[in-house]
Amino acid sequence: MATISRREFVITGAGAGLAAAAPRHALGHAPAVLTRQSVSPVVISSANGHRFRNGGTETCVELAFRRIVAGDDVLDSLIAGVNIVELDPEDASVGYGGRPNAEGVVQLDACCMHGPKRRAGGVAALEGVRTPSNVAQAVMDQTDHHLLVGPGAQAFARNMGFEIERDLNTDRSRRMWLEWKRRTDPGHYLDPDRADARRVVEDERLAEALAPDDADADADSDERYGTINCNGISRGGQICGVTTTSGLAWKIPGRVGDSPILGAGLYVDNAVGAAGSTGRGEANLYNLASFLIVEQLRLGMSPKDAGLAALRRIQENTVERRLLNDRGLPNFGVNFYVLNAVGEYAGVSMYAGQNSQYAACTENGAELLPLEPLLDGSARD
Ligand code: GLY
Repeated sequence: MATISRREFVITGAGAGLAAAAPRHALGHAPAVLTRQSVSPVVISSANGHRFRNGGTETCVELAFRRIVAGDDVLDSLIAGVNIVELDPEDASVGYGGRPNAEGVVQLDACCMHGPKRRAGGVAALEGVRTPSNVAQAVMDQTDHHLLVGPGAQAFARNMGFEIERDLNTDRSRRMWLEWKRRTDPGHYLDPDRADARRVVEDERLAEALAPDDADADADSDERYGTINCNGISRGGQICGVTTTSGLAWKIPGRVGDSPILGAGLYVDNAVGAAGSTGRGEANLYNLASFLIVEQLRLGMSPKDAGLAALRRIQENTVERRLLNDRGLPNFGVNFYVLNAVGEYAGVSMYAGQNSQYAACTENGAELLPLEPLLDGSARD
């Protein structure tokens, strides 16, 4: 994790006189505003931000970091980064080739926040556009609104010049949907090749997506609720974030998760930091955890502690039997990616899973780092 001392920063604003003498959490309603003299730029994201290249040479975090360092707008840079993942058909949780809903239609959610401009935009249940993050940015830049949904979002995208495609399924996402249909509705969707094991499950990820009971917490979370969140800070201390997803696999048509909701899938306050999420959106929606994390940063918590505090809140508010494992703990995964205004960062998760990682890119290059788990063991037992 980056270790820039707070001593390198000057505290200003309404609470400045007090702030010099008192701990920041003692300031009550007078927020501590950190004026950055210089921050080491950093981009963080969910692990898919350093796993997919869409046939190119750079990953999301690498591209976004390079552009931020070159002086491009931070949000433009992050969105260019997540575009790689949205467009890559190999990531079946985001954009083109994302897992469809129960009717076989790919519906996408995204939002973005520009810290310095104090602006935000989002789209939900958008069909036909491979890069919903760009439409969210157009909502931010070209409307008075913060969220457009469904056919309205698509009409807006068309009017803004986005190409509208009839179907965002790939062969792979359609096959996964059909396999799900065959398993959940075997009376109507017959599998003529059921006897041929190679046709039933062609790869391990498909198996995990279709049979989450067999998967570890992280795989369950990634495969069924997969998403990319990406947050960054420039040398000048400009903080932005973006979250984009195809949402829950096989969802009820029209279901909207946390990703496009400001305060849930993403929250940015340029004076304080940014937080975003992947994993079970319903848990995050109930707790508005990204907003909660940023407010904890405002009170002086570290990114790791603020993220763990939000996970603890989710755990406390998870009381329904169907959402608990045999130990009485949440039976789902949820992750947060947190960055503060001095460039410190962390990734946290409910449980440590097999692929429980997040991505970070600094001047030392990009890497996958372990997510800090709140709970021992796995979501399933
Ligand atoms: N976190 C993505 C979703 O639940 O839709």
